[in-house]
Amino acid sequence: MHTAQKIMKVFITRRIPQEGLKILSQAGVCKVSLWDSDEPVPRAELLKGVAGAHGLLCLLSDKIDTEVLDAAGPNLKVISTLSVGFDHMAMDEIKKRGVRVGYTPDVLTDATAELTVALLLATARRLPEGVVEVINGGWSTWKPLWLCGYGLSGSTVGVIGLGRIGMAIARRLKPFGVKKLLYSGRTAKSYAAEVEGEYVPLDTLVSESDFVVVSCALTPDTQGLCNKDFFCKMKNTAVFINTSRGAVVNQEDLYQALSSGQIACAGLDVTTPEPLPTDHPLLTLKNCVVLPHIGSATYSTRGIMAELSANNLLAGLRGTDMPSELKF
Ligand code: NDP
Ligand code: DGY
Repeated sequence: MHTAQKIMKVFITRRIPQEGLKILSQAGVCKVSLWDSDEPVPRAELLKGVAGAHGLLCLLSDKIDTEVLDAAGPNLKVISTLSVGFDHMAMDEIKKRGVRVGYTPDVLTDATAELTVALLLATARRLPEGVVEVINGGWSTWKPLWLCGYGLSGSTVGVIGLGRIGMAIARRLKPFGVKKLLYSGRTAKSYAAEVEGEYVPLDTLVSESDFVVVSCALTPDTQGLCNKDFFCKMKNTAVFINTSRGAVVNQEDLYQALSSGQIACAGLDVTTPEPLPTDHPLLTLKNCVVLPHIGSATYSTRGIMAELSANNLLAGLRGTDMPSELKF
């Protein structure tokens, strides 16, 4: 006998690209309610919106903790995050409750690696400073000693976390004439051979690199990894780039390192908190370039992320294989 299909409830915590919404509305299995704004859902609205939901589509800025899971209740089958990072979610609690999790690896790797290279070059070659000088009339003539920076040719690059994005960054940097590619992490990677990557202890990477690029996941082990000790080991001429998560860096220590000349300059796409307050000390430094977490921000990547997170969500609702399920 045919049983009428139950329409499941889905809550989406933000306005997302149409590509994702279209998939959900055409699927005919769920009723979507959406926090229809570009700004984050207030906590009270999140708790209200998720109540009784079978599926939750969230963002990296939504803290998915016990309170949210309790508010959702026992219906909750799936959480689909529009991100590859999952440090915003209480994974132990989610696992305990048997809730499946979808995420968006791979599809944002190229965009994020590209942005990392752009940030590295902008920081090392002082592009934002140069642009400001042109606008302010500080450009008086061509000067041999003015606005010099650091080049990649002949350099040593150290990648902390040679995962999907770390490897994509390494692939892009090598053709700039990088002489040595070091990487650190929990294990050596066979695929590092493609970029002649050398697996080294973190201390070696930090002290030998001209460019230190952070592309690891935020975990209890990597939280605050880049601290005073770390920056003290870097060369005075070294460039520090972080496109992973802000909490990997101790920002007070980074400020000291940059303002004292311990390191040359830093480029950050991620900070703590986000947004970084406009009166934050790091923003007073010419040798610090801060971007507003735009690693994956190309039109096509965000559209594909939305599609993938919608398909992950649907698979979780239907109890079928997910295109990208987080195994934890
Ligand atoms: P992967 O899982 O492929 O890579 C993560 C890497 O982190 C792994 O290689 C892992 O190394 C490494 N890692 C884990 N623990 C440590 C540790 N203790 N020390 C050093 N390295 C460690 O993820 P992706 O490359 O796809 O993404 C990486 C991160 O980038 C995401 O978690 C997210 O936070 C961030 N991101 C930021 C974006 C932005 O807009 N700025 C966009 C997309 C992602 P090992 O395998 O040896 O454990
Ligand atoms: C992620 O996916 O984790 C990024 O931070 C945003 O794309």
